[in-house]
Amino acid sequence: MKKTKKNKIEEFIRVDHAGERGAIKIYEGQLLALNTVIKDEELKKKIEEMIIHEKEHADYFENEIKKRRIKPTKFLPLWDLLGVGLGFGSTILGKKAAMLCTASVEEVIDEHYQNQINQIKSDEKELRNKIIKFREDELNHKDIAYNEGATKDGLYSILDKIIKTGSKIAINISEKI
Ligand SMILES: [Fe+2]
Ligand SMILES: [Fe+2]
Repeated sequence: MKKTKKNKIEEFIRVDHAGERGAIKIYEGQLLALNTVIKDEELKKKIEEMIIHEKEHADYFENEIKKRRIKPTKFLPLWDLLGVGLGFGSTILGKKAAMLCTASVEEVIDEHYQNQINQIKSDEKELRNKIIKFREDELNHKDIAYNEGATKDGLYSILDKIIKTGSKIAINISEKI
């Protein structure tokens, strides 16, 4: 069956909505660790800055979901749980792992958003412009992460691969279900 244009846009919005919510959950997990077991005020401030952008991104897609009557992914509760777990777990491992978590996710999202931008036509100009803007925010988050010590050296490269594979699986599921 050929995918209609409308279906494609719906998939884009459904998955982006899930992803931006997931980003908030990851940062919430990181903040949970930083408010309990780990003390790092500077890192906390950086994360609190980034979470403001993710909320802006998530709000936009939440609104589009409602406006266009798109069903959100059924997996939201699972993504919430895994997001908080990933954020908390990575931060417990230390600042390098916490920042790698951001870098890895943003690298997947960079490609994901660029793919969507390439496919969205001028009849969805607003959506396209929003995704272009959000992608720039994500690239900025990635830069912050590397500046703050994200690394793919040694064992961290394994963590990078796990996070990227997990993110891609979540993306594929959230587009469809
Ligand atoms: Fe975002
Ligand atoms: Fe981000």
